[in-house]
Amino acid sequence: MTWAPESASGLIGAEIAGYRVERELGRGGMAVVYCAKDLRLGRTVALKLLAPEYTRNEAFRSRFAQESRVAAAIDHPNIVPVFEAGEADGVLYIAMCFVAGLDLRALLDREGPLAVPTALRIAAQLASALDAAHARDLVHRDVKPGNVLITKGVDSDHPEHVYLTDFGLAKKSLSLTGFTTAGEFVGTLDYVAPERIAGRPVDGRADQYSLACVVHETLAGAPPFKRADHLELLWAHQYDQPPALSKDRPDIPVAADEVLRRALAKIPDDRYDTCLEFVGALRAAVGGAGRSGSAPASADLPPAAPCTDQGTGAEPGAERGEEPEEPEERAEAPALPEPSPLPEPPEPPSWAGPVLRAPH
Ligand SMILES: Nc1ncnc2c1ncn2[C@@H]1O[C@H](COP(=O)(O)OP(=O)(O)OP(=O)(O)O)[C@@H](O)[C@H]1O
Ligand SMILES: [Mg+2]
Repeated sequence: MTWAPESASGLIGAEIAGYRVERELGRGGMAVVYCAKDLRLGRTVALKLLAPEYTRNEAFRSRFAQESRVAAAIDHPNIVPVFEAGEADGVLYIAMCFVAGLDLRALLDREGPLAVPTALRIAAQLASALDAAHARDLVHRDVKPGNVLITKGVDSDHPEHVYLTDFGLAKKSLSLTGFTTAGEFVGTLDYVAPERIAGRPVDGRADQYSLACVVHETLAGAPPFKRADHLELLWAHQYDQPPALSKDRPDIPVAADEVLRRALAKIPDDRYDTCLEFVGALRAAVGGAGRSGSAPASADLPPAAPCTDQGTGAEPGAERGEEPEEPEERAEAPALPEPSPLPEPPEPPSWAGPVLRAPH
């Protein structure tokens, strides 16, 4: 088996560790993610194959194994369930729940800044996921829009359902920034906390900083720090004050600036104790702006149910219409629709690029 095929169709139809590869969903700097069929259980999964340089890196391998176990053990409605992680023919893989939707990077690229209630709902779900991980001493380390998957929610109170993915896959073992051993840059520095840049120990508050960068971007259209080159960006995270959010979004009260500033504090002790505390403070600061606004950005998300261990792609229960009330921060899964047995894989979302079907 060859990894990282030149053409996207290279692995289509191949069997890897009991999964049949059906089509490519996307690729990042360290992996290619495929939609695949679990041949033992008949369910559709997302199969992530890690690049060989990670497989060869001993530190990464052991951390991958350990953190995959921890991530798989976290049962939280806003964390993508990991079914299995292992190695087959020298390739590290993770089989996880297939989320039919799009990632937050694609949503922001498509929609630009989001309505305040939508941004708050997304932030609250991410905060809930992160706090649950932090309670188990697991730091994500790579909170960014590309690792946030969004699918249609179950009802008008929950128009979108958000999943955080890629726990334990931050590029720590190669270097902070994602420079490969060949010196190529493969990641983003837009969301990285100052203590990571300084090489100091990180805890959940580093994720809070990254979450605040993401929240800033969902509301302002760009992360707080944009600089011409990587070094300037690193410097800005370390030393520059973040811009006031209310300058880009006049509909947001200035009280929100202080909340963002605190979550983006250079020193972790100066931040909120938890991510939910941060998002709660933000919701209080935006006041009425958090309850008004245009239709949710999820209006044309593909229909899909939240991930379950069965990996079903059942239809959501309700139509959406009026602007929903802002939900409470949720630590519980919304009511799931009845699972249907062994469904066909959902139609690929439009953002999935070229659609390649497995041979029958
Ligand atoms: N469980 C999943 N279900 C559906 N699509 C997924 C799933 N996991 C990842 N994807 C999609 O696969 C694509 C590639 O993901 P990947 O994690 O490799 O890249 P990334 O997060 O953009 O970058 P990085 O390499 O920095 O992690 C993303 O666009 C994401 O939307
Ligand atoms: Mg990712």
